Parts: sequence; C-alpha cells; structure tokens
Amino acid sequence: MKTAPRIAIVGGGAAGMMCAAKLKELGVPAVLFERNPKFGRKLGITGKGRCNVTNDTDVPGVLANVPGNPRFLYSALNGFSPADTKAFFEKAGVPLKTERGNRVFPISDRAADIVNALRGAMGCETVHERVTGILSEDGKVTGLVTGNGKKYSFDAVIVATGGLSYPTTGSDGDGYRFAEDLGLTVTPRSPSLCPLVAEEGFCADLMGLSLKNVEVRVTDTQKKKDVFSDFGEMMFTHFGLTGPVILSASAHLDKMTPGRYAVHIDLKPALDEKTLDKRILSDFSEEKNRQFRNAFGGLLPAKLIPVFVSLTGIRPDKPVNEVTKAERAAVLRLLKDFPVTVKGFRPIDEAIVTRGGVSVKELNPGTMESKKVAGLYFAGEVVDVDAYTGGFNLQIAFSTAVLAAKSAAEKYGKTVSEEKNMTETTKKTVNIAIDGPSGAGKSFLARSVAKRLHYVYVDTGALYRAIGLYVYRKGIAKDDIPAAIACLPEISLSLEYDGEGTQIVKLNGEDVSGPIRLPEMSMYASAVSAIPEVRAFLLDTQRDMAKKCSVIMDGRDIGTVILPDADVKIFLTASDEVRAQRRCLELKEKGIETTVEEVLADMRIRDENDRSRSVAPLKPADDAILLDNSDIGAEETVEAALRIIEGKVSSQKS
Ligand code: DC
Repeated sequence: MKTAPRIAIVGGGAAGMMCAAKLKELGVPAVLFERNPKFGRKLGITGKGRCNVTNDTDVPGVLANVPGNPRFLYSALNGFSPADTKAFFEKAGVPLKTERGNRVFPISDRAADIVNALRGAMGCETVHERVTGILSEDGKVTGLVTGNGKKYSFDAVIVATGGLSYPTTGSDGDGYRFAEDLGLTVTPRSPSLCPLVAEEGFCADLMGLSLKNVEVRVTDTQKKKDVFSDFGEMMFTHFGLTGPVILSASAHLDKMTPGRYAVHIDLKPALDEKTLDKRILSDFSEEKNRQFRNAFGGLLPAKLIPVFVSLTGIRPDKPVNEVTKAERAAVLRLLKDFPVTVKGFRPIDEAIVTRGGVSVKELNPGTMESKKVAGLYFAGEVVDVDAYTGGFNLQIAFSTAVLAAKSAAEKYGKTVSEEKNMTETTKKTVNIAIDGPSGAGKSFLARSVAKRLHYVYVDTGALYRAIGLYVYRKGIAKDDIPAAIACLPEISLSLEYDGEGTQIVKLNGEDVSGPIRLPEMSMYASAVSAIPEVRAFLLDTQRDMAKKCSVIMDGRDIGTVILPDADVKIFLTASDEVRAQRRCLELKEKGIETTVEEVLADMRIRDENDRSRSVAPLKPADDAILLDNSDIGAEETVEAALRIIEGKVSSQKS
C-alpha cells in the first residue's frame, strides 16, 4: 500500500544536499541518509568558515582548473554552471560577492548561510543512520543497509559521501568502500589542497606567522621546472607551511618524495631587486653603527627577522656600514627567494580535498551512473576529479549532484502525483481518520504517521482556515453567517503537495499556507466551520483526496461524516490542561507570547463550538479507537497509533 520513494541519497554534504534540492524541484520524493545529526558540516568550515561557493567563470574556466579528468565534467558543468550556482543561492536569499581570483563568497562571509540555503531547498525525508552497504542484484541496485542492520529498498542510490579529508566532519571514505564492494575501480587517494611539511626546522620558530601578499613559487627539483606560482597569503606552522597559496600549490605536486619540491617565497614581490637594494642602502645609512640584526624593522615582520638574519650567514652584530656588497646581494636574494624544502604532505585527513576516488572511466559522464551497476550514481568528491582552490571543487560537487539527481529522477523517480495516479489505478487506497479536540496533537501524529507509511497527510482544518481567511480579508464579521455563505461561490480551494509531502493550500490559486496560521484565523475558522453550507462545500474536496490516494486525514468529523468507511479511525484526546500547555509552548516557539490561561480559555470556546454545533459535532465515531495521550509523549503516541493501524490494516488484508 506504500508509495515509497525509489531514490536514496547517501551523504548530507554539499553534493548530497544539492541532490536533494534538485529532486525536490523535480517533485520526485527521495530519502537522504546522513549519519551526523547535522547537515553540511564540512561545508560549514570551508574557506575559513566563509565558504568559497563557486568561481565566477564560465565552463572552460572551470575546466582549466581541473588538473585530472576535466573532460569527464563537461556535461555536468554545462548542465549546472557557476552562473547556475550563483543564481541558486541568490534565489535562496543568500546575496553573493566576488573577490580576488573570481572567488565567490556569501556577502555575509558566513558559510552557515550557504548550508542553511541548501538545507532549506532540500525537501525529502531524512534518516540519520550510517549506511554500511549498498545492495544489488543482477547488476542492479535494490536498496541499502544501515549500521543497525535495517534494510531499505530503493531503485537508485546516489552516493555523495565525500572524500577522506576532515574525518571529524564525517568524511571517512565509506563511499569508496561501497564502490569497491560492488566491483567498481577506485583510484588511489592522495591529499590535494593539503598543508606541506618542511625539512627546515626554522618553520617551527616562525609558527603562527602569516605572510600576506607574498609570491610563492614551487619548483620540481627533479624536472628542474616551476610547477606553480601565485600571490597571496601563507602561514608558517610547527610542521611547515599552510594557508591559501600553499594549499593551492599542493594540488600541483605529484608523486611526492622528500626534497623533490622546493618552495620559493618572494617576501617583497612588489619591489624589483634594484629598488629593493636602494631601499636597503637607505635603511642601512640611517644609522651606520646599527647592528645588522636591527636593520630590518621596516622591511620584515619582527618574528621573521632572527631566522632571516641567520639564513644570510652574516654576523648579527655586524655594524651595517661593514656589510659588503656581496653580503647585501645575499640579503637581496633571500628577500626575493626565501627557500623552504618540502618533505611531504600533511596526513590525508588534514587535506581539504582528496585526489583519487571512484574511477571516471566506469561512470557515464552524461548521467553520473555506474556503467557496471544500474541505479548506482556518484556525485561530489567521492568521484576521481579534483580541482585547484578557488571555488572549483564545490562547483564540481554541485554540478555532478544536479546531473546525478536529474538522471536518477528521469530513469527511476516518480513524482508525487504520478505515485498518486498509480495508487488510483492499481491499488485500493487506505484511509485513516484522526479526530479529536484542538491541541490534542492530531497534526503531529498524522504528519508523522504519513511520513512513516508514505501516505498523504490531509489537514482538513486548513480548508476551514482558508475559508476563514477569505471571509476575514473581505472584512466580514465572524458571526455574519449569511455574508460568509455568500462568499462560497467566489471560493475555489485546492490541496497540493510538495516533494516532501507537505500540504499546500491554494485559495483561488494563491498559496495561503502561511496566512491561515495567523492566530486570529483560529476563531474565524471555528466560526465558519459551524456553518452547514461551509461543511457541505468542503465535503467533496476531502473525499476526493481519500479516493485518489492512501491518506491520513485529521479534523473533527473525519471518522463520522467525511470518511465513515475509513479503514482506521482514531479519536485522539488529552486533558484540557495538557492540551492548553502544549499549545502554549507551540505558540511560544513561534514567538507568540501568551499564557496557559489565555490559551485554555480560547480553546474551551472552540471546543464548545466544535462539540455543540448542530452539523457534524465533534464526537468519536462508534468504531473509533480512543487514544488519550495526556500522560505520554508525542513519539510514544505515534508508536501507539502505528500499532493500531498495523493491527487494523493487516487484519483487513487477511
Ligand atoms: O485543526 P484546526 O485548528 O486547524 O481547525 C480549524 C477549525 O476548523 C477548528 O475550529 C475546527 C474546525 N474544523 C472542523 O470543524 N472540522 C474539521 N474537519 C477540521 C477543522
């Protein structure tokens, strides 16, 4: 009886969240598995917490920054380019800015804004369990299994588990294992965008020193050629070098062996040797007897001076007027070419990006689907493509995610409405009615059960609220029954569902899901719900939904009037005080200040209206099961309801 999603996404990082957002846009339900309670943890710390979200360039511009396998990304990038990334985030309410090197950041400089935008655009069920394996049969994905041994069926699984870097954020290479278990080739992983360990011990003395606006050049001493050169910021650490320019440089270092690569730092890139020599001469001439070690205050950061002086080989206490021309040349050389020898990369878990991964030879570049296992897709860093710094790696994650999601949706997905049609033509629908007084927790219960059983949740109170809203907007008094009835021919109501199954109420085509929740709408809804003409007006809308698909519907008259033949009827109740307390808390969470007494008074009036009206008064249907949750929590109530439903529905089948 279920219409379960057919597509799973494994990993709630940049790529996984973007997959979920794309599937939501396509109206295709999916389930996202993320073992961390939070999404996008690594994304939240990238770019020093600022998140360099893309690079403001065109597709060839991105490809030029991908050292290995650029061709593979052609379709993905053309389908979702840096311009699309920018549009996506700006549309999601995150204004962006472009900095040096076309790096794009949120104007707020807060990576959290990027994470939240993605989080907000996702619209699928999420499961916080660790996926331990992907199941397949005859070369086709059949589902996945999680750490606690639970098996889930899926037709397609998109693996977006990230790389090996930053394991504390959740990147630990699970995705590589899934790929290998299913017979795919995974190329060896090595760090890319990684700090560098230096042979020279002086780095430890300079620990914490940050050099801005230096030029860093890296040479391959074996091949005797430069492999990298750029301006920017770098830092000394106890082990060697790090910082943006060093991380960028690291992506260019292949087949690392100790001593193979040499870093040359130009400490004064803006000054040529001649100008610099003049500057030194004038500094020296200021005070002729000054000791050599005290002559660099204007030129170098204090922390660097002792190391610098010792590297020149010139006696620190030598008076500057005794420094020879040859010695000055050595000083000049050191200013323009401060050398550090690379011993190796820092461990892979300190890398920002991992090189290597699922071999692109075995993936279809037009879909991101495995050529060996149907229904198995990969997106993001788990794939063997990596780029230099500058926002390119995130762009690749987004582009491959969108492509994987689109392709999986086309081949394996069904939209919510397609699912509903299928249910209509091939299956008998299951109808569950939940009635009860306000504040008993009906909507939480119904929504949770709907999610668990993959039924559609129909909140009928929202229909009355929408009519209340219309009447209110027309300036009609709450108790003016004839005026409210006269409105009905002007009203057209419809219920729609987004990819996540959230109900959207449309009043004459306008989405009124927000305004109907305003506190003053409760009384208007209560008033119109006592009018028989209004109830008759809404009857078909509710019954049609129940005919079309398996529903769990909550309200006041569902089991008695709307769906007298419902498969399961639950009357959910709780004591007045408990209900008032809960409602009060809910309102407070929404920022609406009120007191339990006020809520209780308001609730009693509404309860009385609901119970005493002549049409469809609130009362349990004869065959309803009473569930009093005064003394149990919300989750326990859901479990109890599921047991009731399971008992009823399976006994009907047999
Ligand atoms: O559940 P709710 O608070 O959103 O409902 C709004 C009003 O509509 C409430 O006063 C009860 C009434 N109602 C009703 O009479 N019959 C229904 N099936 C659902 C709601």
